[in-house]
Amino acid sequence: MPPTSIGIGLIGQKFMGRAHSNAWSQAPKFFDLKVGTRLAVVSARDATELAAFAKRFGWEKSTTRWQSLAKNPAVHLVDIGTPNNMHAEQALTMLAAGKHVACEKPLARTLAEARVMRDAAETAGKRVKTFVWHNYRRAPAIGLAWHLLREGKLGRIFHVRARYLQSWGAASTPMSWRYDASKAGSGAHGDLNAHLVDLTRFLMGEPIVDVHGAVTPTFILSRRSATGKGKEKCDVDDAALFLATFAGGATASFEATRLAEGHLNDNTIEINGEAGSLRWSLEDMNVLEWCDASDSPRLRGWRKIMATSAGNHPYAANWWPDGHITGYEHGFTNMAADVLRVLSGEKPELPLPDFADAYETCRVLEAALLSAKHRCAISLSDVL
Ligand SMILES: NC(=O)c1ccc[n+]([C@@H]2O[C@H](COP(=O)([O-])OP(=O)(O)OC[C@H]3O[C@@H](n4cnc5c(N)ncnc54)[C@H](O)[C@@H]3O)[C@@H](O)[C@H]2O)c1
Repeated sequence: MPPTSIGIGLIGQKFMGRAHSNAWSQAPKFFDLKVGTRLAVVSARDATELAAFAKRFGWEKSTTRWQSLAKNPAVHLVDIGTPNNMHAEQALTMLAAGKHVACEKPLARTLAEARVMRDAAETAGKRVKTFVWHNYRRAPAIGLAWHLLREGKLGRIFHVRARYLQSWGAASTPMSWRYDASKAGSGAHGDLNAHLVDLTRFLMGEPIVDVHGAVTPTFILSRRSATGKGKEKCDVDDAALFLATFAGGATASFEATRLAEGHLNDNTIEINGEAGSLRWSLEDMNVLEWCDASDSPRLRGWRKIMATSAGNHPYAANWWPDGHITGYEHGFTNMAADVLRVLSGEKPELPLPDFADAYETCRVLEAALLSAKHRCAISLSDVL
């Protein structure tokens, strides 16, 4: 018998800690679920900040010892929102203790770590579930795009164009774990291309079979220390670009950067098929653009579809009356609702990525790093 309330243990209380805390408390309020949530315990490093955070977001307890979540019977699912270097150790500890795990992306710093996590999830067995927070799968218009692609509305697919452009990485931005390869693994690549590779794999429903022509430059080699004393070396990519081929033959291009002045959070996917094209951007996330090749030449062009009604957006009925937009945080809440559905034996509204699925995304990311390093094409069959 599944519990009537899933006890959540969260690790990390900053950016993702806030997004996830909100999601776990909102999901049972807006969705009809067979289980509720109990915000049992939150863990992070700074005791003073943590106590204030726990109070504000309604966590019953807080601790600076994340390891204690493994033995806590009130915790059924451990949610990992820490820097990438902590994902593997924390996930392995919790899986060994029989806890479900929802981990932030990228799954791990390296493919080797991701592989160990995938294997540990498999060893933990079917009763223990894993999830990875590829939250953009649950943006309003992405759900519509996924359904259109499943219905074959685009016909044969020729091109996938994916870019994630941000601009917060100028030389004036101080050092943080995100610029340190020992903590982050990679830079814009693992941070932003991880989202793009997951989203395009999810939408296309087929694997990427090869990667070509990757470049992963580091433009800014050192930054002022966050403590204000001196400079520290940066050893991750500031941008990562590569080409790829999907199993069905479609070509794909990926571009991720933190140095695209003028672009704040420009996560844009365009897919061109013989029957039409679709385009989505996070900066206008409720809209799906659609061009139908069967329209008369006089009227053919991009249509702007607001994915805000129960008829075209799988989560809309849980939110506001038709026509009212949802935002960034709703993607996390939609995902939390689907996680809770799975934990109570129901089907998720849209497929959820588990560790095995996120491992496949990590294989593509690794292939791009190898392509950049060796200046050659890499077949995914050589990256296991
Ligand atoms: N899904 C998304 O769209 C998205 C967006 C941003 C970040 N992320 C991912 O979320 C993760 C966290 O990113 P963030 O932006 O929240 O980072 P952050 O730096 O804002 O917060 C990190 C948190 O982890 C805690 N922490 C660090 N080391 C710890 C340790 N050893 N033990 C316990 N707690 C520790 C810190 O106290 C802090 O609360 C990263 O993997 C990142 O890639 C995902």
